[in-house]
Amino acid sequence: MPHKPGRSASPLAGLAPEDILTRMTLDEKIGQLHMVSADAVVTGPSGPPGGLRDLDQGRIGSVLNVWGDAAAGLQRKAVEQTRLGLPLLFCLDVVHGFRTVFPIPLGEAASFSDAIWRETAAAAAREAAEAGVALTFAPMADVSRDPRWGRICEGGGEDPLVNGRMAQAKIAGFQGDDLRDEARLAATVKHFAAYGAGIGGREYDSADVSDYAMAADYLPPFRAAVAAGVAALMPAFLDIAGAPMTANRALLTDVLRKAWGFGGVTITDYNAVAELIAHGAAEDGLAAATLAFNAGNDVDMVSGLYHRHLAEAAALGLVALADIDAAALRVLRLKQALGLFENPWRFCPPATPVQIASRREAARRAARESLTLLRDPQGALPLPRQLARVAVIGALATSAADMRGAWAETGDVEAIVTIADGVRAAWPQADVAVCGDDPQEAAAAARAAGVAILCLGETAAMSGEAAARANPVLPDGQQALLDAVLATGARVIVLLACGRPLVAPQLFAADCAVLVIWGPGSEAGRAIADVLSGDASPCGRLPVSWPRAIGQIPVFYARRPTGRPHEAGARYSNGYADLPIAPQFPFGHGLGYATFSWSDLQVSGMDRAGATSPLTISLTVHCEAGAGGWPQNGRTAAVETVLLFARVRVPGRTRPLLLLRDFTRVALRPGETRRVSFEASRDWLTREGLAPAPATVSFLEIIVAASAEPESDPARCLRRILVAQKGADHGRAAG
Ligand code: NOJ
Repeated sequence: MPHKPGRSASPLAGLAPEDILTRMTLDEKIGQLHMVSADAVVTGPSGPPGGLRDLDQGRIGSVLNVWGDAAAGLQRKAVEQTRLGLPLLFCLDVVHGFRTVFPIPLGEAASFSDAIWRETAAAAAREAAEAGVALTFAPMADVSRDPRWGRICEGGGEDPLVNGRMAQAKIAGFQGDDLRDEARLAATVKHFAAYGAGIGGREYDSADVSDYAMAADYLPPFRAAVAAGVAALMPAFLDIAGAPMTANRALLTDVLRKAWGFGGVTITDYNAVAELIAHGAAEDGLAAATLAFNAGNDVDMVSGLYHRHLAEAAALGLVALADIDAAALRVLRLKQALGLFENPWRFCPPATPVQIASRREAARRAARESLTLLRDPQGALPLPRQLARVAVIGALATSAADMRGAWAETGDVEAIVTIADGVRAAWPQADVAVCGDDPQEAAAAARAAGVAILCLGETAAMSGEAAARANPVLPDGQQALLDAVLATGARVIVLLACGRPLVAPQLFAADCAVLVIWGPGSEAGRAIADVLSGDASPCGRLPVSWPRAIGQIPVFYARRPTGRPHEAGARYSNGYADLPIAPQFPFGHGLGYATFSWSDLQVSGMDRAGATSPLTISLTVHCEAGAGGWPQNGRTAAVETVLLFARVRVPGRTRPLLLLRDFTRVALRPGETRRVSFEASRDWLTREGLAPAPATVSFLEIIVAASAEPESDPARCLRRILVAQKGADHGRAAG
């Protein structure tokens, strides 16, 4: 990484953004709204040729997909060779790491840990800032309930609360308390809104989303991000009910700016302004630029249509000069907040060896805590410390690039610890046989070793943008490999790499343990070995319901009750004739090596029916001593995750059977007991369009549970009915 090339300030240093604006020509103002790609990584179709040419005229405000020396060179031109010396803003998708790679967001979501989410974002921010990046296009806060969609890997899964909490933690990690801190990045929450709702799980497709779903499911994570002070926001590519988000003034201006008070910068998605023409929403470049700008998009990423047409649109009276000023001012304020006028070469000093080591440690911890044990019917895990022989099977076992996950193209592949390397290091005395995907060879190795770690699942490229899969199943040939290894009678542990839940009923019926590793990142091998060896108990929990069959998609826990609820075997009841209605594994599912039991649920602060101000909900969590033989020395703590659900009834309405309202983790050693509590604020039920007002809630039950199938684990499920107004169901209909 380059060192700071110079400390000369911009000639505009010390001036207020408002003063700077008064010195700018219309073209220079529009320049601040023009973002081009330098294509050091390619994240979309190429923009108009010669994009960087206009830099000399001071007509480019920001550049994406550039860092290091190339960024420094561009900055020198901008600051030293343009009329005003306005610094550029360098932007990049730092989604789950820059050089050091952390788990893919869906995997990190499985940790249910605000602390991990924040820590990895802070570490990634610092590393990218060392290379001069100042803004990241992350976090993605799209609720996604369709595993066909390749980008389900990029967010927090199916639940609005998890997505909102994760977005807030990521923003805190990226941005810190002060953007001027050279180790921080401005964050961009995306893709506003409902990008996860695309029809058929197809990338760039349309969506039809009801007002209810918008209010209850899709908007809340974005509102949480705005409340957390996110610097920027990116609208989604898609159209919702005929209104392309890039032209959606109702959401981008009325909701985002006016109702939520967002004062940051809006940045379109890649080439999205020009794509309004393909959407059929605009006839030509002038119309597209006018539509997008008037809808509320400040910065045009790559299309070049603001650059080409905004001045003309202003001359024709199609856009207001005052609005151009306001948009340019928002960009200048962001640059000022980042300290770019004083320090255009905003390269954070290179990390010290201690900082680098702690970054790697954060990657290992995050990967370890994202690992999700779906099943272990034979108690194959943890593996004994004194393992003499083990076979590590599958092409993914030695692939560093595939451990990198879907969106960390800048990640340092050389520095990735593969699964095979991790196993070798954890069992130095063992004879570790490593082989590829050939079933015969694999069977021979498994037979000889008696223990097989079988690496199945998706390559990194199978997830992410433009990686929708109509058949999200095990890739070709892997079922045959699994069958061959199982037939040997060896103890089999499947490590499942994936950016989405994979439909694999045969795998889940087989006699083997299945540990989901997601896209684990730089420390893949070490983190996996930590769990396989029993140094750590697996503690990941599914942030998405895992479908049994493709026909079940979308499958998610927050279903609304129907008039004919599901009843196994009953003909006229909700469900499928050929498949259970429940998912393969519910939201929140994940096994560990320790056994927990919960008791003594207390709720205090409930003043009167329906008014919940404020509530304290507490319970006792106990970790059984010595259960299951783990851990052998009793010194290692295991993490338990408590999910707090509510069940609400509102007269005249249908509300979901279960809703996640909070979650927390507690680390306990065997034999330890701890009291865990949640604080619920006054708007706990009424926000997010669930109930119009507390008094309209006719029934409210609190359920603390380990998963969205509370009944499946009675030792870890406690309930309390808080409101049960008799006759309220016959009262007024509530909005
Ligand atoms: C398109 C993607 O949808 C968006 O998430 C990303 O930030 C941009 N490309 C820039 O790479």
